Amino acid sequence: MVETRIIDGKGFAEELRKRIAGEVADFRAATGVTPGLAVVLVGEDPASAVYVRNKGKQTLEAGMASIEHKLPETVAEAELLALVNALNTDPAVHGILVQLPLPGHIDAQKVLATIDPAKDVDGFHVVNAGRLAVGLDALVPCTPLGCVMLLKHHLGSLAGARAVVVGRSNIVGKPLAQLLLREDATVTIAHSRTRDLPEECRRADILIGAVGRPEMIRGAWIKPGATVIDVGINRVEKAGGGTRLVGDVAFDEAQGIAGLITPVPGGVGPMTIACLLQNTLTAAKRLVAG
Ligand code: GUN
Repeated sequence: MVETRIIDGKGFAEELRKRIAGEVADFRAATGVTPGLAVVLVGEDPASAVYVRNKGKQTLEAGMASIEHKLPETVAEAELLALVNALNTDPAVHGILVQLPLPGHIDAQKVLATIDPAKDVDGFHVVNAGRLAVGLDALVPCTPLGCVMLLKHHLGSLAGARAVVVGRSNIVGKPLAQLLLREDATVTIAHSRTRDLPEECRRADILIGAVGRPEMIRGAWIKPGATVIDVGINRVEKAGGGTRLVGDVAFDEAQGIAGLITPVPGGVGPMTIACLLQNTLTAAKRLVAG
């Protein structure tokens, strides 16, 4: 029986936000520029509205400017592209984030491709994805960045570790695999068509759940002592009515098997916004330095 330690992502993110706030104050004092983050929300998706509200609040708390644009679900693609172009040329805006998912009549890839890569604080533009892949300086997607920060803090070097990423999304799985490779881990990307997924997972020293399926990764899939990072945030019905949040990993089953594990909520989630603030400051510094 392994003693399982819980990774405190909430506490780590708080510390990170404090450090960023200090750096923002220094940057403002040195340049007279306040880093500005523009967030664009299309439609009324309740989960997206909560994320956007939290982003706005934490941006202000870090001493940065928060610019919010809320557009109706029915907005024309051309109008959204025009807004992105206006933000691209606005000198008060250093970071642009278009909240996903977008309504079906809008081509999300086209919108992401319109964002100036220098202001792409989500790191979703193909230029940033490509730069990450070839090892150049890039704005890196926030959730994968948060995962790797937690891993390095708790494990030190990741060199040579066997990492299995379950999930191959452009937002998490693929960029996370690139970041782990940059840290010299031995990386496997597993997905819905992987043969014998449990066995693949059992090889992992670092196991990452990023599929968006509630408690899909079972305790028996975890190598004893492995570090488990749970990126999933799934709302499920509770037995007695109401709902609760669970991750992609069966957290209770992982107790006594995993060496380290992130909880849901309070694990990876809070790291995402902290990393967004970090990326906004990075973008502002590069834009101001020219
Ligand atoms: N929707 C869910 N996660 C994200 C994210 O990290 N960035 C954006 N823009 N939308 C999201």
